[in-house]
Amino acid sequence: MVQFDKDKKIIFSGIQPSGEFTIGNYYGAIKNWVATQEEYNCIYSLVDLHAITVLQDPATLRKRTFEEAAILIAAGIDPEKALLFVQSHVSAHAELGWILNCYSYMGELSRMTQFKDKTAKASSNDSIRVGLFDYPVLMAADILLYQTDVVPVGIDQKQHLELARDIAQRFNQQYSPTFVVPEGYFGTSGAKINSLANPEKKMSKSDENENAFILMKDTPDRIRNKFKRAVTDSETEIRYDRENKPGISNLLEIYSCAKRVSIEEAAKEFENENYGNFKLAVAEAVIEDLKPIQDKFAELVKEKEYVNKVLKESADYASYLANKTLDKVKRKVGFYSTK
Ligand code: TRP
Repeated sequence: MVQFDKDKKIIFSGIQPSGEFTIGNYYGAIKNWVATQEEYNCIYSLVDLHAITVLQDPATLRKRTFEEAAILIAAGIDPEKALLFVQSHVSAHAELGWILNCYSYMGELSRMTQFKDKTAKASSNDSIRVGLFDYPVLMAADILLYQTDVVPVGIDQKQHLELARDIAQRFNQQYSPTFVVPEGYFGTSGAKINSLANPEKKMSKSDENENAFILMKDTPDRIRNKFKRAVTDSETEIRYDRENKPGISNLLEIYSCAKRVSIEEAAKEFENENYGNFKLAVAEAVIEDLKPIQDKFAELVKEKEYVNKVLKESADYASYLANKTLDKVKRKVGFYSTK
């Protein structure tokens, strides 16, 4: 069982169980999550309340939530060190989310670029879900409930994090210090894994083109095939240049993550190699790096009770922590209590 150390800072991060994890999630986020568990009190959540801001197939959502928990454990999230729970198991998230709605403004939510991007194609407001609009407030609740010091997220979440900070400050000012104002941590290495089909775009599990992403669960053959098809350029030279050679640079980035070498070292290693062999080498590096995780995942899927126990114990401890903040908030806003 996790026992948090009072002297350590608190990290919170969330990941949506709305698709399968790609190597972009792995090298960008999950690896950081694993690395930080030694130094921080880490709280990681599978944010299913966020996932339903777009329509989900119920059976798939349920299955993915379990499998993603298993893959996170397989990738090295240690249930003795970090909390790993499902957001909807801790009702304080929805409760604080509601309360914070009442301290957030239409204007600031309307300015969120993710919301604007996701609704750009909508024909009218009648097809835009309120949950999608409100998504960042729930995210603020996730973070603020745990008096989080640091939030490791991709750069695409920066604006959401700023909003969480604004809401925290606003609430603290309106009443008295209640929330820690969290800092973002926009990781360096691996945060930039792009699509194999369109290397100027972030790798995404929701890409229509299956060859654009590598899943953590992909078989070696699939991985080889996808890398073979990866978009490069019409030159022949292997060098790191994000601007002019996005495809090759992305592959170098992936190789450097999988092999744990610097990009310079990777570029040097393939200096005189042709594109075909280089792609194969990247594929083999990824296959080798994922193998132990895939093996462990296969074991965990058979140990459903163990995974459930981790999720349950984590949710219990998370609830205990979250309710300390929620009780304070309720008192400050003036809710009557029988306690
Ligand atoms: N919005 C985040 C993403 O899509 C996921 C998320 C939800 C999150 N709640 C969070 C991340 C709280 C950090 C902290 O990546």
